[in-house]
Parts: sequence; structure tokens; C-alpha cells
Amino acid sequence: SHIPALSRAESLIRTVADYPKPGILFRDITPLLADAEALRVTTEALVAPFEGEFDVVAGIEARGFILAAAAAITAGVGMLPIRKAGKLPRPAASVDYDLEYGTATVEMHDDLPAGSRVLLIDDVLATGGTLEAGRVIVDRLGYRLAGISVLFEIDGLGGRDRIGDLHTVFRS
Ligand code: PRP
Repeated sequence: SHIPALSRAESLIRTVADYPKPGILFRDITPLLADAEALRVTTEALVAPFEGEFDVVAGIEARGFILAAAAAITAGVGMLPIRKAGKLPRPAASVDYDLEYGTATVEMHDDLPAGSRVLLIDDVLATGGTLEAGRVIVDRLGYRLAGISVLFEIDGLGGRDRIGDLHTVFRS
């Protein structure tokens, strides 16, 4: 089991007060990413509950890209980027959403056949706005959502109520 290694990985998530704005408690996963074992065991923990149930991993810009690409390699599948507006040359769908600190738009290409089973991954669940937008855009392209997996869930900001059924590796 990875439990001691996962506890160690959790201890490598750094909490930074008042970033990027006053009152925001920022969860910084870069110390975890910098550690080989922590990166490996958390990536494995993200995909393990969904083994055999997805054809591709989708990650949300920007921090979701890192974990989704690692998860895709671990699982032996490809990776679909869900990008902030204006970054993809041929977006097939566009979804606006609210953030804990601001607003944003996500876009996605439609490079796989409709019905492809997508595991949606992000680093942090806070209000759930980002993952909700991810879920909507995956659905709009005709993909099937195999599941949602998040490295760190922040309690008390409504994300769990909004997203419902999701797998989280760590929570506050
Ligand atoms: C952060 C984080 C999640 C999202 C969580 O991303 O990486 O994607 O916020 O918040 P929510 O549940 O309230 O939507 P951010 O938009 O800061 O983008 P980044 O990954 O490019 O830093």
C-alpha cells in the first residue's frame, strides 16, 4: 500500500495565506511535484479507482495539465487539454465559469470520437466552478464522463455539493 508515501506526499502540499488575493488560502502543490515518490504515488492514487473505466484523461489548465499528463502515462492512455480561452486553434466548445477569485472561460478540441470515456482531473477543488465547467464541456463534445479525480479538496467552499460524486486523494 502507498499509505505512508501518500501521507508524506500530503505533507508536501504548501499552504500560502493571502495568495493570489487577501483572504485566499492557496494550496501550492509544487513541493509535491518536485518529489519523485510523492508525484508517483499521488498520480497512481488519482487513477486507481477508475482503472479500466476510461479511454483518455482530461486536465484543466494549468495545474490540472501536470497531473493529467502524469496520470495518462500511468494509465497508458492519452491526454486531452481543457484550456483557458484563446489558447486552442480550433476550439469545438467554449464554457464560461466563476472562480473563487475571478471569472474564466474554458475551451476544448474534439479530437476523439463522441462516446469516448473521459477521466477528468484537476489539482484542487474549491468552489467547484472549474470542474463544473470541465464537466459541461466534456458533455457538450459528446464524451462520456468516466469520473472526476482531484488531488486536494478544500472543504467548506461548496465544491463537494456542486460536483457531487468525485474521488479526492487529500482534503482539508
Ligand atoms: C485553480 C485550481 C483549480 C481551481 C479550483 O485554478 O488549479 O483548477 O482553481 O477552484 P474552483 O473549484 O473554485 O473552481 P486556477 O483557475 O487558479 O488556474 P491555474 O491552474 O492556471 O493556476
